Amino acid sequence: MSDVDLKTLEGVGPAMASKLRSSGLTTINALAVTPPKEIAEKTGIGFNTVLKIVATARESMGVDFITAEELWKRRQHMLKCSLGSTFLNELLGGGIETQAMTEFIGEYGVGKTQLCLMLCVTAQLPVEKAGLDGNVVYIDTEGTFMPERVFEIAMAMDLDPHKTLSNIFLARAYNSSHQSLLIDGLFKFCPENNIKLVVVDSMIGHFRGEYVGRETLSERQQKLNSLLHKLLRLTEAYNLPVVVTNQVQANPAQFFGDPNRPAGGHVMAHACTHRVFLRKGRQGTRIAKVIDSPYLPENSARFKITEKGIEDVQD
Ligand code: GTP
Ligand code: MG
Repeated sequence: MSDVDLKTLEGVGPAMASKLRSSGLTTINALAVTPPKEIAEKTGIGFNTVLKIVATARESMGVDFITAEELWKRRQHMLKCSLGSTFLNELLGGGIETQAMTEFIGEYGVGKTQLCLMLCVTAQLPVEKAGLDGNVVYIDTEGTFMPERVFEIAMAMDLDPHKTLSNIFLARAYNSSHQSLLIDGLFKFCPENNIKLVVVDSMIGHFRGEYVGRETLSERQQKLNSLLHKLLRLTEAYNLPVVVTNQVQANPAQFFGDPNRPAGGHVMAHACTHRVFLRKGRQGTRIAKVIDSPYLPENSARFKITEKGIEDVQD
């Protein structure tokens, strides 16, 4: 579909369409939202030509100005993916949203990866069952993706566990530049493989490990920022949710309240649409709190991690 789309664009011949396609720019939408400089670098097409085709792409999509009514309509196509717990879904306004990036933040062992694994299964459910009716990409930076766990969750949901596992495309990112490369590739991979959910677990681990010391901070933040914005563009280009995990770091200057704050500073805070802070509660339960969102209230919900995946806590 996308190929035909591109070629229908004025000024894009078959050769150029093929260059764009092989750089992961497979739709007019992707062309319209990607910075021209990046397109020129990726494809080798001259910058002025890129400016022209990007302008045409934007015009044909009407992305420069849309009415609020059109935005409302676009958002009607937003889907919400269930997390398996009614309270958690309610907290997030129905589930994990497409066209948005959701961040799970919390200390080790709190359940960030478990939530992501649960989503790998629920995202494959049909839309009527609060799924996204598609496949999943999982970028694993820590080597903690557990197929056995997905198998177990799929079994508990009466799904074919082998089929469920076959629909999850895993990539183990070995360092931050590998992680960037993998994320770049998603603009091509997602439409070609019916990907409806992208997980990056964890978004920031490699960056924290590789850029140590104050003098490297601004470079790290710039790279992280550009990567996060690519992921945001991906959510809009293909109507899918991106879910990222993030660790907490101790803030020694904090005397009151929780001394742990999300890593990644303002860059993470601004890029993520919904931020969900997780902590351990009584008797092995977990508490999720929305800490930053354009329209979700700052509420909390309790859930538990069980052999079935994620479940409600019944009081
Ligand atoms: P880091 O990646 O280390 O930062 O932690 P995380 O937040 O990703 O933690 P993770 O999702 O790996 O959560 C691990 C916790 O989930 C364990 O401590 C267990 O409490 C729970 N858990 C994992 N698997 C199961 C399971 O099969 N059954 C039950 N009941 N709990 C599980
Ligand atoms: Mg984890």
